[in-house]
Amino acid sequence: MSEPTHRIGFVQFTPILGALEINIERLFTLVKTLAEPADLLVLPEMALTGYAFRNREELGHITTPENTERTLDTAVRLSHLFGGAAVVLGYPEWTGDGFFNSAMLAGPDGLLGNYQKTHLFGTEKDMFLPGRTGFEVFRVRDFTVGVMICFDWFFPESCRTLALRGADIIAHPTNLVMPYCQRAMFTRALENSVYTITANRCGMEMHQRELRFTGESVIYGPRGNILASAPKAEDHVAVIEIDIHRARSKNLNSRNHIFDDRTPDYYDL
Ligand code: ACM
Repeated sequence: MSEPTHRIGFVQFTPILGALEINIERLFTLVKTLAEPADLLVLPEMALTGYAFRNREELGHITTPENTERTLDTAVRLSHLFGGAAVVLGYPEWTGDGFFNSAMLAGPDGLLGNYQKTHLFGTEKDMFLPGRTGFEVFRVRDFTVGVMICFDWFFPESCRTLALRGADIIAHPTNLVMPYCQRAMFTRALENSVYTITANRCGMEMHQRELRFTGESVIYGPRGNILASAPKAEDHVAVIEIDIHRARSKNLNSRNHIFDDRTPDYYDL
């Protein structure tokens, strides 16, 4: 029998492109009445800025040190509102030599970690550098979080690396425009026996073509069971109870251990 040990959730949200302060205000209006204590809360990729910047100059206007500070401050405020939760939130990062599509991990006392998206999607390649952090995992209280961003899901190695490094939960901020990921995360969760939280956004933006974001944020359990999901086109907050131990046993049955049974000598990696 499973006993709940942790509470995890997501915020599905519809930011307005380039309107950081308005987005922060709208985000707190959304979560104000829905916040409840959690251990981990995941927000979308580029959660407070929007996504479809036309060029690096436009991206540069929003990626200021003041705005990065405001983003961290927002994550810390959210953490307090959700009972001290670790918060994963996507944002554009400037490091002095380039922009990165990043996600910060913050707790009630400030920054805990940072991840820079490894696999850039489409026109992101015109704006961002591929991430340099790699797939590091972060220890938060008594559990381990791995972060990957949106298109990283398409490369099973992302999630596998995080799981092999001990992630119990994969925090997955997204701005999904293709229709596959929400269903495909079933396999990422199952083949790695981890919890996955895909926090997507809704709405529409224009960049060379119309980008329609697909909502339907979803949390999977280690056997591929859907534990929470959101509608396609509405903002949504979900917090659910999980038993973290279910992600720690990698025994599929009495004869199969999903990591020990791997045969890397035969994999063409
Ligand atoms: C994506 O990686 N934002 C589709």
